Amino acid sequence: MRKDLHRLRQGQLSQKQIAASVELRKRRSRARLDLDLSLPEQLPLSAHAAEISDLLVKHAVIIIAGETGSGKTTQIPKLCLQLGLGEGGLIGHTQPRRLAARTVSQRIAQEVGCELGRQVGYAIRFSDQVGDDSLIKVMTDGILLTEIRRDRFLDQYDVIIIDEAHERSLNIDFLLGYLKRLLVKRRDLKVIVTSATIDVDRFSKFFDNAPVVEVGGRTYPVQTNYVEASGDIIGDVGDALEVIEGSKSNASLQARDVLIFFSGEREIFEAAKTLRQRFSERFQILPLYARLSFAEQRKIFEPSSSKRRVILATNVAETSITVPNIGFVIDPGFARINRYSYRSKLQRLPIEPVSQASANQRKGRCGRVAPGVCFRLYDEVDFLSRPEFTDPEIRRVNLASVVLQMQAFKLGDINTFPFIDPPEPAAVKDAMLLLLELQALSGTKLTAHGQAMARMPIDPRLARMLIEAHKQGAVSEITILVSALAVQDPRERPMNKRQLADQAHATFSHSRSDFITLLNLWSWIEEQRQTLTRNRMQRALAKRFINPQRVREWREVHRQLRLICKDLGYTDTPKAASYQAIHECILAGSLSLVATHDERGSYLGARGLKLRIFPGSNLSQTTAKWIVAGEIAETSRVYARNVAQVKPAWIEQHSMRI
Ligand code: CDP
Ligand code: MG
Repeated sequence: MRKDLHRLRQGQLSQKQIAASVELRKRRSRARLDLDLSLPEQLPLSAHAAEISDLLVKHAVIIIAGETGSGKTTQIPKLCLQLGLGEGGLIGHTQPRRLAARTVSQRIAQEVGCELGRQVGYAIRFSDQVGDDSLIKVMTDGILLTEIRRDRFLDQYDVIIIDEAHERSLNIDFLLGYLKRLLVKRRDLKVIVTSATIDVDRFSKFFDNAPVVEVGGRTYPVQTNYVEASGDIIGDVGDALEVIEGSKSNASLQARDVLIFFSGEREIFEAAKTLRQRFSERFQILPLYARLSFAEQRKIFEPSSSKRRVILATNVAETSITVPNIGFVIDPGFARINRYSYRSKLQRLPIEPVSQASANQRKGRCGRVAPGVCFRLYDEVDFLSRPEFTDPEIRRVNLASVVLQMQAFKLGDINTFPFIDPPEPAAVKDAMLLLLELQALSGTKLTAHGQAMARMPIDPRLARMLIEAHKQGAVSEITILVSALAVQDPRERPMNKRQLADQAHATFSHSRSDFITLLNLWSWIEEQRQTLTRNRMQRALAKRFINPQRVREWREVHRQLRLICKDLGYTDTPKAASYQAIHECILAGSLSLVATHDERGSYLGARGLKLRIFPGSNLSQTTAKWIVAGEIAETSRVYARNVAQVKPAWIEQHSMRI
């Protein structure tokens, strides 16, 4: 509509178009009349409605902070409607997660009394439920970012609400930076940033001292029980459930459900299976994660069973989704966090202890309606030794992937983009060089490779290997290898049993390539998995000095990669890939990790770097002229890990294309 105004001034609109535009505005104005815009009195946000309204009239940006459950997400869009926003353009409302975008829009639609997709709609990838008379559009932050490519001024919006800004994902940082710039050009746009009560001043300063409204929030005391961990998370969780069931002290608590935090979907599947065997008579076990189907999701929000419920959730239940009636939280204390290792120059998805802020959020989930009880499966010393906050994503990822995404979203030059936490110029330069090497950029423009890489949530080097795999017909082999490189090596070499371990691992070894060795290991694991029970499998792994937890992670990342490949249309080929094909794929992502034999036991890498082959490698005694490494890491000395013998012709073929 704003675009129409612009064209109207230029005399480019016909009578008919003008009439249609006026009609649309009228219709949206009428659509608003049908809605119930009252704010529930008991929510902390409602007490600040007048203050927020005043500030919104006077300021372009406001920051609203408050505890989870205070009404930020569900009530602010209604408040905007009360002020007449949403008629000239939409009220855009972003969520960090798909599942949240859907449940939030459902909830708002239900509160204002409309069908979902009418006045209140939502847009997530592959599903757009926004209609002509929609006033509120709830979407993932990724969707709004992709809209920027086509709608540079975000003309279709009156106001943009960036919800959960404290999460500080790359997407959120991108949006905040872009909006900061856009506000100079669009004087009429309103921006509302909401956050848990963490780091609120950062946001305010970033937006030229925008006013902050602290809505507070009612929380009840939560008793914290630190439980000693045994190393078996599912077992410990089960024991905590027994304690919860056995405690007969408080009748009102007896009626409340249990929320348990896991680090990922696979962990949830496994836990669900085991816990169902043990507790199916006593509890209803329900998984909750981002890619849940509609029907499964409904079970969480519309309780149907008479049994007490146990919800197994990922981080999604930490702040963005509120599960009703939670009296107990069990927190093993881990999350899967992507992190770039400057040491190994690879971005990985390690499972890490969560920050104190995160642990406290988790705990708070059982103190929303009455006092609750939280079991932490770690001790207090551990808790106190953890970082206070989770680092923002831009501090954790490979900058090369930041550049890729900025290019894909057309956000402009990384060097001048307004970031809350701007990256170091030297690191940006390295990132650009790497992208040139990977043929993701040509000059400053994204190539076709670069576009594909921007869509893969993995390290750009590994993404480049996958692209090559598609070309070479080696997708099934390279997904296995790339996921192996993205997690920690599952092979263990305990100090006191090093020789035994090396002997056990030798069963899988290939004399010229650690990558083929990894493929052999994978096949062996798959065979065992299909024939052995869980317990016997664990024993078989232990006997060969293979860490089952890391195998699980390997398989999980592999599963995620397969999904990505499916999205990209990368399919398996019936024929196994040749040695050359496999290693050309590795080379495509590891050109700067090529080394040539120097003198006994030592190799010479790029920029004259002297290195040795890691002692656990089958090639540690090799004198092969040329090798490529999956990783070159500096520990006590410079070691190349996962190496393979390659031919100079293969290297040349790839370097020529730079
Ligand atoms: O965003 P914030 O955490 O501040 O709160 P909210 O999500 O707007 O939730 C406000 C209230 O609505 C909470 O007390 C929730 O219990 C309730 N709510 C709900 O019952 N069902 C939903 N799907 C969403 C919110
Ligand atoms: Mg919220």
